[in-house]
Amino acid sequence: MRIGVLMSGGDAPGMNAVLSGALDRATNLGIDLVGIEAGFGGLCERRTRALGRADVDAAAGRAGTILGAGRFPELKTPPGVQQCLDAMGELALGGLVVVGGEGSIAGAAALAAAGAMVMGVPATIDNDVPGTGMTIGHDSAVNYGVRAIDDLRMTATAMPGRSFVVQTLGGYSGNLARAVAAATGIADVIVPETAPDLDALAARIRELTPGGHVIVVMCEGAGNAVAMADDLSNRSGVRMHSTILGHSQRGAVPTAIDRTLGRIAGSEAVDALAAGRSGLLTLSASTESGLAAFRTPST
Ligand code: F6P
Repeated sequence: MRIGVLMSGGDAPGMNAVLSGALDRATNLGIDLVGIEAGFGGLCERRTRALGRADVDAAAGRAGTILGAGRFPELKTPPGVQQCLDAMGELALGGLVVVGGEGSIAGAAALAAAGAMVMGVPATIDNDVPGTGMTIGHDSAVNYGVRAIDDLRMTATAMPGRSFVVQTLGGYSGNLARAVAAATGIADVIVPETAPDLDALAARIRELTPGGHVIVVMCEGAGNAVAMADDLSNRSGVRMHSTILGHSQRGAVPTAIDRTLGRIAGSEAVDALAAGRSGLLTLSASTESGLAAFRTPST
């Protein structure tokens, strides 16, 4: 059996670990795993690449993707779907592992609906793929944001009297910004899903800044941190600074969680295709909490 693997949409830390897990499992099962460069667009151009064990292992702990990722909006149209199906047929791919975010998983679903054997592996720093609790890359991007805010707090605490707006990536989903804020204990988060009460926020900044500081976390989809800092400064009368994490956040070193999720997902996606199954691989960070009764000591 021959299976293709491609990375679609924006890259995410942990994508290379998916490749490593997939190659391990494919090797065990005697499956020929073929890398496809630059996402669905690369598939249509038949841009295949042999996956060398040493290359894949060396990349497993690095962000980005050695296959290259890319967006392919044509897959939203029937001719785009047909182009991908033709390429799969010509490359003799009995299955395809699609690693990517919401749009990429929708593309994978469209191919599966048209009869192809496809496994979707959710990977995006945004953690906004319907049907899965966690996406590969999110944890690394959250940790990047946490480190940036830890650093910012050092100088903010040393020189009270200024306040800050930190802009995360995340597209039009506030999930990444909310997760960064939750991990750093920040209550003031501006996300696209909710209209902020800027006057109330400015009042808090005015009240707290003279002897301290306020850090506001803002998702890029809710606006621009430079403009927001100006606006809050005008409303509060407090000097404000902005920090835009930008794409460095997407290039964060993959955390242990993302490497582990990546390896597991790659392996399970190949396993599923080998067993004749198509679908979305769901992931969880296993951070659920609960309350259990004490065990009765045995007598
Ligand atoms: O892949 C998701 C993401 O990183 C979003 O957080 C961000 O808004 C977007 O991609 C940026 O995409 P691009 O690099 O294509 O501009």
